[in-house]
Amino acid sequence: MSESIIYNKFSDKATLYGELLPQIKSLITNEKDIIANMANVSAVLKEVFGFFWVGFYIVRHDKLVLGPFQGTIACTRINKGQGVCGTAWQRAETIIVPDVEQFKGHIACSSLSKSEIVVPMMMDGSVKAVLDVDSEQYNAFDTTDKDGLEKILEIMVREMFV
Ligand code: SME
Repeated sequence: MSESIIYNKFSDKATLYGELLPQIKSLITNEKDIIANMANVSAVLKEVFGFFWVGFYIVRHDKLVLGPFQGTIACTRINKGQGVCGTAWQRAETIIVPDVEQFKGHIACSSLSKSEIVVPMMMDGSVKAVLDVDSEQYNAFDTTDKDGLEKILEIMVREMFV
């Protein structure tokens, strides 16, 4: 694996995701451990986009349990249907929240977080984990992030499990 991620910090978001995808693929190829790969993918996203918080919650029986992340300390267990993460798990779809205060049941791990996107990691039709990304700005996420982050999770699943 390479030692660093190469990207142009002046690129727009769509270009950045495009630059990252092949590098993430090569970063995790030959590594089947989900924790190791979640840790490196969190680090890449934090470094490149400067997100306030980025990390994974992993499905363990009837709960989501905190996995590898970059950012401030966070709640460790989330029920199905609870908060943005638990709702994305229940619906098995990506949720974009432009203003966390407007999302009923949002779990505030930090009062600094203002907007959020949660993307499920799907395998064989069921959710194995979710990727949660928080921003200190309102309205920070759009379909470009949805497409880019969904593609990253698809690459992770393909490299680890297929
Ligand atoms: N806000 C999330 C909880 C996780 S933290 O943001 C890291 C939620 O509502 O599910």
